[in-house]
Amino acid sequence: MSMLEVKNFSKRFTIHHLGETMHAVEQIDFSLERGEFIGIVGKSGSGKSTILKSIYRSYLPDKGSILYDSERFDKIDLSKATERQVLNLRQYEIGYVSQFLNVMPRTTSRQLVEKALLEMGEQKEVARKEAQRALKHFELDRKLWDTYPNTFSGGEKLRLNIAMATVKKPRLLLLDEPTASLDQQSKMKVREIIEKLKANGTTLVGIFHDIEFMEGLCDKVFDMKTRELITTKMKAGVAGES
Ligand SMILES: Nc1ncnc2c1ncn2[C@@H]1O[C@H](COP(=O)(O)OP(=O)(O)O)[C@@H](O)[C@H]1O
Ligand SMILES: [Mg+2]
Repeated sequence: MSMLEVKNFSKRFTIHHLGETMHAVEQIDFSLERGEFIGIVGKSGSGKSTILKSIYRSYLPDKGSILYDSERFDKIDLSKATERQVLNLRQYEIGYVSQFLNVMPRTTSRQLVEKALLEMGEQKEVARKEAQRALKHFELDRKLWDTYPNTFSGGEKLRLNIAMATVKKPRLLLLDEPTASLDQQSKMKVREIIEKLKANGTTLVGIFHDIEFMEGLCDKVFDMKTRELITTKMKAGVAGES
């Protein structure tokens, strides 16, 4: 089977104080093969993050299935997986990076990256070495390694975020606008990282604000407006709006 198959997926939210239900996304279908990179485009509020969060199971879908070809559990419907399975997959197989850094307080950058590795059962010494390698690789200034990231700049937070997610070498990596508010140089760095991950066989689903960034990077593009999956390499202007 494909690495990921999103089938007839819908998600509604109940706005309790209004007593109303609203559809965030309806009837989404797409699939991707191992090692592919799919980009999701569409205007703000069209439900892109909702799809990604449902794959990561931060949200539970109302309808449809999200079939993932897992290493540990074989074929698994992420919309029906148990909490235990979800935790296991997040620990070993599925990574998530957003523009926001949501981490334990009073924990240094180094400790955060080490923790990601220790969670996977790595030995302390190995975790220490790997964490250093990752922080160096993503060019996080050495003087920031042993400080708390709450005061970091957007670019620094992002690099730490990516280091934490990629140090685990996830099979499936979800990227929710990780380049938002980054300067051009930092964006190019992210692009390089994505290219490296792809070369190593990581399957990726990404949302990016600028279409230019996605050009030549995505194998498939899913357009929220037309609900169509375009299988050719991305061409500028395909999405129309972002
Ligand atoms: N937790 C939530 N509770 C209520 N509404 C939500 C929630 N998450 C998203 N929404 C709504 O669902 C719609 C899609 O949001 P989102 O997936 O964040 O869109 P996008 O990422 O494309 O900007 C929006 O109208 C948003 O307000
Ligand atoms: Mg979003």
